[in-house]
Amino acid sequence: MKLTIVGTGNIGGTLGRRWAARHDVLFATRRTPAEDPELASLLAAAGPRAASAPLATAFADAEVVLLATPWSAVREVLAAAGALAGKIVIDATNPVGPGLTHALPTGSGAATVAALVPAARVVKAFNTAGFEVYADPDFGGEAASLFLCGDDAGARRVVGELAAELGLAPVDCGGLAQARRLEELALLWISLAVGGAGRGHAFRLLSR
Ligand SMILES: NC(=O)c1ccc[n+]([C@@H]2O[C@H](COP(=O)([O-])OP(=O)(O)OC[C@H]3O[C@@H](n4cnc5c(N)ncnc54)[C@H](OP(=O)(O)O)[C@@H]3O)[C@@H](O)[C@H]2O)c1
Repeated sequence: MKLTIVGTGNIGGTLGRRWAARHDVLFATRRTPAEDPELASLLAAAGPRAASAPLATAFADAEVVLLATPWSAVREVLAAAGALAGKIVIDATNPVGPGLTHALPTGSGAATVAALVPAARVVKAFNTAGFEVYADPDFGGEAASLFLCGDDAGARRVVGELAAELGLAPVDCGGLAQARRLEELALLWISLAVGGAGRGHAFRLLSR
């Protein structure tokens, strides 16, 4: 599969490095590896199936796009990316406001993304735990849950497979109307992390 990842930081770097073991990963970046030693290190760690390209050219061949920038950059990134028609767009961003509130009064970040690229197949995912969990989702033999939602069932299935490949347990939460709940769940995760629990925790859905 061909993935384009915007954001080479905690989330984009972690997921891109891991997916590059099985997929072609192209990081859409503002700087070249020659200009950015951290990007050069990431590409070296990710191996031969990883590369980088400027935002203007990085999306044409992508089957899956991962948004892993600050929420404040999403409009600019999508303007550079174009329509992304038919592509799966995974929104891992969290719109965080003052005092660990949701930054948007209504709706969700993912719904905003979907409105900006209406021909894309938007899935909210990889936003409800810290990047360390996506680097290593194993908690003593139990896999962390990977909550995801989106209006396209086929896109949800593909994202679930991409999560399962990393050792996560995908939880299909249904349509994109669920995205605000996932974004609020991220706020709970962050509040626990900064409240003393640290970053070594994850949510797991129990079923019987
Ligand atoms: N950190 C976590 O554990 C975690 C967990 C779940 C979800 N998230 C969400 O994931 C997103 C990324 O978080 P992060 O911690 O990975 O951030 P980060 O480490 O600060 O990395 C942000 C990345 O976004 C890039 N970027 C910023 N503005 C850009 C623009 N206009 N165009 C292109 N690239 C741009 C940066 O590139 P430059 O180097 O060029 O600045 C950098 O590579 C956030 O929305 C966050 O809420 C984070």
